Amino acid sequence: MHGLNYNHASISADALINAELVEAPSHGLSRLKMYCDRIKKKLINPKPKIKFKKISNSITHIDANNSIGFVAANIGIKQAIKNAKKTGIGLVGIKNSGHYGLSSYYAEQAVKNNLIVFCFTNAPPAIAPHGSKKRLFGTNPICFGTPSSTNVPFILDTSVSMINRGKIRVAAKIGKKIPKGVALDKNGKPTVDAKKALAGVQLPIGGFRGSGLAWMVDILSGVMTGGNHGGKVKDPFDDFSGPQNIGHLFITMKTNLFAKDYRSRIKKNIKIIKKLPKINGVKEILFPGQSKFARYKKNLKKDIYIPKTIKLEIEKLLN
Ligand SMILES: NC(=O)c1ccc[n+]([C@@H]2O[C@H](COP(=O)([O-])OP(=O)(O)OC[C@H]3O[C@@H](n4cnc5c(N)ncnc54)[C@H](O)[C@@H]3O)[C@@H](O)[C@H]2O)c1
Repeated sequence: MHGLNYNHASISADALINAELVEAPSHGLSRLKMYCDRIKKKLINPKPKIKFKKISNSITHIDANNSIGFVAANIGIKQAIKNAKKTGIGLVGIKNSGHYGLSSYYAEQAVKNNLIVFCFTNAPPAIAPHGSKKRLFGTNPICFGTPSSTNVPFILDTSVSMINRGKIRVAAKIGKKIPKGVALDKNGKPTVDAKKALAGVQLPIGGFRGSGLAWMVDILSGVMTGGNHGGKVKDPFDDFSGPQNIGHLFITMKTNLFAKDYRSRIKKNIKIIKKLPKINGVKEILFPGQSKFARYKKNLKKDIYIPKTIKLEIEKLLN
């Protein structure tokens, strides 16, 4: 448990295994060594004294005291859920946290409580702001969730880069190529070499629009919460010069704040879209999160495949 108490270790393990089950291995066990390395180097605090500042019944500010990101975010979303249940809307800002894995893991908790949710986190420099050749913004995911009227949560959870950095890291680790059009090498040339991409810049989705979204997330997660921002979030794999001080921002809302029949309205909304004529080769129009949920259900009954390099890393951690 590397000094984490049982509760914090189980929250972290659950989040990592969840990433494997939804087939996002870039945010799963391939990161375990990194988290343990950062604990060993005292950059993640295994025994954090997490402080809560109640600003109102809706708003809470959390200082995570460099806890592992999973724990800070898990505590944060639970507080945001509590606040929204009490007042209709919850806003939680978290500073002094670390990499928290998949945003969907936290959004799902709010949706299970019948709430609409936004989750934001900033991340280490990966994307060059539009017009610059230096990487500064993280892949800064934007996550929106809502109950869908079925047991499948509607969760849009997307990096603002063409692909998430974790996928490039895993490709570099296991010697795989990355897709075309997602990254440039350090000389600004397109590359499919994962190592060259890590040394260069990642491309945002939609050009200047994606760059703008990455900037927005940096402001909400970093500037607003008191976390690091403006390219100061340290890379968890390569930069051991200090804690990451990542910021997260969670917004939770009751679904029936305006129209009282949200459940039937969202059901109708999804039905209209699903009934649209489909392009060739598409069997079903999916809503965000639908395929992730199906993967989770399917994989719950199976063993998790761990690549050899990652298995070796984990075995060494146990010694
Ligand atoms: N903590 C961090 O610093 C950090 C940084 C970046 C990304 N991440 C996480 O990485 C994960 C993966 O991000 P990503 O950008 O690779 O996601 P992705 O590209 O796999 O999916 C993006 C979104 O598109 C939806 N989607 C995919 N296929 C679809 C289809 N056919 N029809 C409709 N919707 C579809 C998915 O449900 C998802 O909501 C996310 O969970 C994100 O939170 C974390």
